Amino acid sequence: MMTSIVGLVVCAVLVFALQRALVRLQLSRAKHRSLAGHSRMARRFASVVPFYEYDEAHFFRADAAPEPVAAARRAGFMRLAGVFRQRYAQTAELTEEMVADVSDLQFTSRYRVPFQFSRFVREHLRPGAFLASSSGVTVTDMDGNRFYDLTGSYGVNVFGYDFYKECIARGSERVRDLGPVLGAYHPVVAYNVRRLLEISGLEEVSFHMSGTEAVMQAVRLARYNTGRSHLVRFCGAYHGWWGDVQPGVGNPIAARETYTLKDLDPAALRVLGSRRDIACVLVNPLQALHPNVNAPGDSTLLDSGRRAHFDRAAYTAWLKELREVCTRRGIVLIFDEVFVGFRLAAGGAQQYFGVRADMVTYGKTVAGGLPVGVLCGLGKFMRRYREERPADVCFARGTFNAHPYVMGSMFEFLKRLEEQSIQEIYHRLDAVWNSRAGTLNERLAAAGLPVRVANLSSIWTICYVQASRYNWMFQYYLREAGLALSWVGTGRLIFSLNYSDEDFTAVSNALVAAATAMQADGWWWASPQLTNKSIRRNVLKEMIQARCLSPMGSMSSPRSK
Ligand SMILES: Cc1ncc(COP(=O)(O)O)c(C=O)c1O
Repeated sequence: MMTSIVGLVVCAVLVFALQRALVRLQLSRAKHRSLAGHSRMARRFASVVPFYEYDEAHFFRADAAPEPVAAARRAGFMRLAGVFRQRYAQTAELTEEMVADVSDLQFTSRYRVPFQFSRFVREHLRPGAFLASSSGVTVTDMDGNRFYDLTGSYGVNVFGYDFYKECIARGSERVRDLGPVLGAYHPVVAYNVRRLLEISGLEEVSFHMSGTEAVMQAVRLARYNTGRSHLVRFCGAYHGWWGDVQPGVGNPIAARETYTLKDLDPAALRVLGSRRDIACVLVNPLQALHPNVNAPGDSTLLDSGRRAHFDRAAYTAWLKELREVCTRRGIVLIFDEVFVGFRLAAGGAQQYFGVRADMVTYGKTVAGGLPVGVLCGLGKFMRRYREERPADVCFARGTFNAHPYVMGSMFEFLKRLEEQSIQEIYHRLDAVWNSRAGTLNERLAAAGLPVRVANLSSIWTICYVQASRYNWMFQYYLREAGLALSWVGTGRLIFSLNYSDEDFTAVSNALVAAATAMQADGWWWASPQLTNKSIRRNVLKEMIQARCLSPMGSMSSPRSK
């Protein structure tokens, strides 16, 4: 009798242990094999990458190109440096004066190109961080240079800067009598709420100061209302800078209640279908352009491995599967539309992909050019207190939420969204932007240039089709050709929807001219030995050497700022 009880207990323990092991294995299988899929490993790897940099000779021959090629690159670089010095003199000077005092400027100026090249580039090619004015699809710097704007102001600029200037001016006028009174609402809020509920198809709204805050609120409420601890995000997806949604590099501590799963993969669905601790799934539909990959920036352009391609049918099918498993398991499905909302369709990604979420975050453009975050959700997930347990509340309020000036500008934005002219823009959106990308790619291919573009509507990424260590140089040729990029360079070009065909042709001409100049200067020198794999291998070797043997041969040891 006694032995059979012991046997039963042992059996139960074994079954339990096996079950746990299986659940753990399921989670491991649902992680992307890249470092982006393994947050802890990525942070550990980042902490051991040593600083080293190329001296001047190695700077131009990091791919072991022949000396004449290096000489052509040097000549091209110094010519560009001369152009930058002259053309952007005042803008660069003002930036120089500020850089030591503004930590953000220090960061962005340092991380424009891979760190091995960064100091030399900073010394010679200073794009400047100031602008004096905007008009149409252009911005003008302190020296009077006009650029076609491809920064899109981080995605805020959907309809053109003049549109937002009007929203802000008219919105300010509308709320002027109340002024900056906080706590109570200005009556424009009533219209904003009604329109946001119509657009989102959801039941309640909360206002915040930024997209990051709206995401924080969404996750906090999902945890509170499901009683579960964990959030799921997909590999590579950006959801703002809050620690729980940024578990990898960039966050000094581990995010312990976050699962980072593979996008577009049945293994992730299996995890969602079996675990009991998942409160919500965060989806950033921008990842449809580059699933499982971090937002592209030129500082990580070590080789030409950057890939991007948008498959609308595949992504739609994926969202439908996610919807199904979330409904079945009582998991809150959150679409983070801070970036893509109002850019893909009037009803945002929900409308574009034909899938409904339980919560949706908006931000960037929705306050007509002023800072904001918005959360819309089903009532049952937005609740912040419990009738039956009055002391158990979910507290999240902010001083500036629903600021009258922000609400005024949002009112103007949402009103204008109803206009026929805006609706027409939305109707033609995919046809216009896909055809523009296609035409540009044909031109680039016909000219024998190793550059292509990939797009999700008006959000573009530049890809490189031939192995090279110098693709990051392209951003400087583009600037010389009159195109303004954000600090992530060719990783992200954002067009506003007021680009006419003529404007777009001018941008295409500039892009082709810039690539032609860069090619002529030898940066895209090719050899059969030079492959993405060989580049990565060499960089890894350099890192190992730098860790073991610093200072070494053609590289120098760390320098101070
Ligand atoms: C999808 C997404 N979510 C959240 C955020 C964070 O928004 P904010 O920068 O306003 O805090 C961003 C910002 O780029 C974003 O793209």
